[in-house]
Amino acid sequence: MERIIAPSVLAADFGHLERDVMMVDRSEAAWIHVDVMDGHFVPNLSFGFPVLRAVRRATQKVVDVHLMITMPERYIARFAHDGADWITFHLEATQDIEHCIQLIRESGAKVGISIKPKTTVENLRPILHLVDMVLVMSVEPGFGGQKFIPESLDRIRELRTMAEVLNPELLIEVDGGISSANAHLLYEAGANVLVAGSSVFKAADPEAEISKMLHA
Ligand code: DX5
Ligand code: ZN
Repeated sequence: MERIIAPSVLAADFGHLERDVMMVDRSEAAWIHVDVMDGHFVPNLSFGFPVLRAVRRATQKVVDVHLMITMPERYIARFAHDGADWITFHLEATQDIEHCIQLIRESGAKVGISIKPKTTVENLRPILHLVDMVLVMSVEPGFGGQKFIPESLDRIRELRTMAEVLNPELLIEVDGGISSANAHLLYEAGANVLVAGSSVFKAADPEAEISKMLHA
């Protein structure tokens, strides 16, 4: 399966957002990851539409929006309008998963659904055939710079096995505590999209770190 690196702009320097996005554009990363937090679904706030639009204007890459917000159905159409190519919402954040999936489809974006570390993979079974991607969180969502939770590897394996039957084309994205040091473990477990914030933007040579992660 194709490998994709998605640097997370959460760890960028917002005073130099365009410069940091241009670095991603020069790199081997195929996607750019945009984390939206509402201070309710997660105990932190990040940013919303204006920053998404600024990223969209500055990049040729695929824009991957990760919604850490309660009732994402309220805002899906606007995120698509403002430049999201992929929209991922949290299974735990809505009472109506199928409605969210339908809204993303209608918007023309690709559909991702995410689970927090304590949510069992089995919860995805009824809707796995309806989505393009599952985002397995490998830290509690809300903050960059946390340590990778090793049990995430078993969750990825379980999900890949389930997907072989129910959705063989499924992309599996992982987010939290990822660097070139653990990337190979994630590929081996069955993931193919790796999100990385701190490890990329705090690296002395961010483009080289992206390359190492891709070819790990
Ligand atoms: C955390 C966000 C991540 C974050 C990852 O809730 O979803 O995308 O940017 O940051 P690192 O790579 O530093 O763990
Ligand atoms: Zn994220």
